[in-house]
Amino acid sequence: MIIIAALAMTVGAFAQKPDIHILATGGTIAGKGAASNETRYTAGQVAIGQLIDAVPQLKDIADVTGEQIVNIGSQDMSDEVWLILSERINELMADPDIDGIVITHGTDTMEETAYFLSLTTAGTKPVVITGAMRASTAISADGPANIYNAVVTAVDPKSAGMGVMVVMNGLIFGARDVTKTNTLNVQAFQSPETGALGHIYNNEAVYYRTPAEHDMTFDIKGMKQLPKVGIVYGYSNIAPDMVEPMFKNGYQGIVYAGVGNGNIHKDIFPVLEKARRKGIQVVRSSRVPTGPTTLHNEVDDEAYQFIAAQQHNPQKSRILLMLALTKTDDWKEIQTYFNNL
Ligand code: SIN
Repeated sequence: MIIIAALAMTVGAFAQKPDIHILATGGTIAGKGAASNETRYTAGQVAIGQLIDAVPQLKDIADVTGEQIVNIGSQDMSDEVWLILSERINELMADPDIDGIVITHGTDTMEETAYFLSLTTAGTKPVVITGAMRASTAISADGPANIYNAVVTAVDPKSAGMGVMVVMNGLIFGARDVTKTNTLNVQAFQSPETGALGHIYNNEAVYYRTPAEHDMTFDIKGMKQLPKVGIVYGYSNIAPDMVEPMFKNGYQGIVYAGVGNGNIHKDIFPVLEKARRKGIQVVRSSRVPTGPTTLHNEVDDEAYQFIAAQQHNPQKSRILLMLALTKTDDWKEIQTYFNNL
C-alpha cells in the first residue's frame, strides 16, 4: 500500500503540467507607483518575467512561459499591436507544445482587444485576457490573483472552445459582451446584457453558460493596417463640423454613438447621409450602456443605408466595422455581421 502511494506521488510529481504561454502587453498590471498607498502610477513598467515570478503558485498548476509583445498603457493600444497579437495567437493555436494562451493587458481597452482577437483568431485553445486595476506596487494589488485566475482558466479543460475570455476579479467574461464599467474599482468589468460566463473557485473555472456561437473569423494574416473607422459621440446641440472633417481624412466608416436607440441629431443627419453618398459606411450605435441599437426604430435604416449596431457598443462597433470592411463594402452584408457576431 505504502509502495503504491509512493509510486502515485512520484508519477504525480512528473506528470506533465499544461503549457501556458503569456503574451504581455503592459497596463496597470505591469504598472509601478512611487508609493504603495497612492493611486499615482505609470502603466507598463514591469516586464513579464517579473510578473510571473511574483506568482510562484503558478508553478503548481502549469508550465508558464512569457513573451513581451509591448509594454504600454492600453490607452495607447493600436491596430498594429492587434495585428501582431492576432498573428501570434494563431501561431500558438497551431503549436502542439502550447495548451493555452494568457494575455496581460491594460484594462482601458481590454474589451476592444478581446473582441478584436475573438474575431480574428481561430482554434479551441483558451485565450484568456487579464489585467489589474491596481499597480503592481500598490497595497493589495489585484494583478497577481488575476494572473493566477487567468492561468487557472486557461488550464481548465472546460475552457476549451470558449473562445477569447476576460478574467478579472474572479469572474470570467465573454469577449463580445464584456465592458469596463468602473474607472477605479477592482470590480470594474461586467457583461451588462448577458452576465458573466462563469467564475473561478478553488482552482477551477465554473461556467454558467457557453458564449454565443459563431464560426466566422476574419482572415487578417499579413495585413499591416486596417480600414480607418472613427467614432462620433452624439450629444445635444452637436454641430456638423464634428463629422465633416472625416470626409477628407480617409475614413471608410463612421460609428455614430447616438442618443437613446442610436438616434441622430437633426443637424448631423444630413452629414451622415452625405457620408453614405460618398461610400463611407455609417453604423448607428448608442451611448446608452445597455440595450441594443435596433434596426428601423426611429430611423429608417433601409432608406438611408445605415447599419444598426445591435448589441455592440460604439468601441466594439468600430472594431466590427473595420473588420467587415476588409471583406465587403455592401452595407446589407455588414448588417448581417452586426446581427450575428
Ligand atoms: C491601461 O489600460 O493600461 C491603464 C489602466 C489599467 O490597466 O487599469
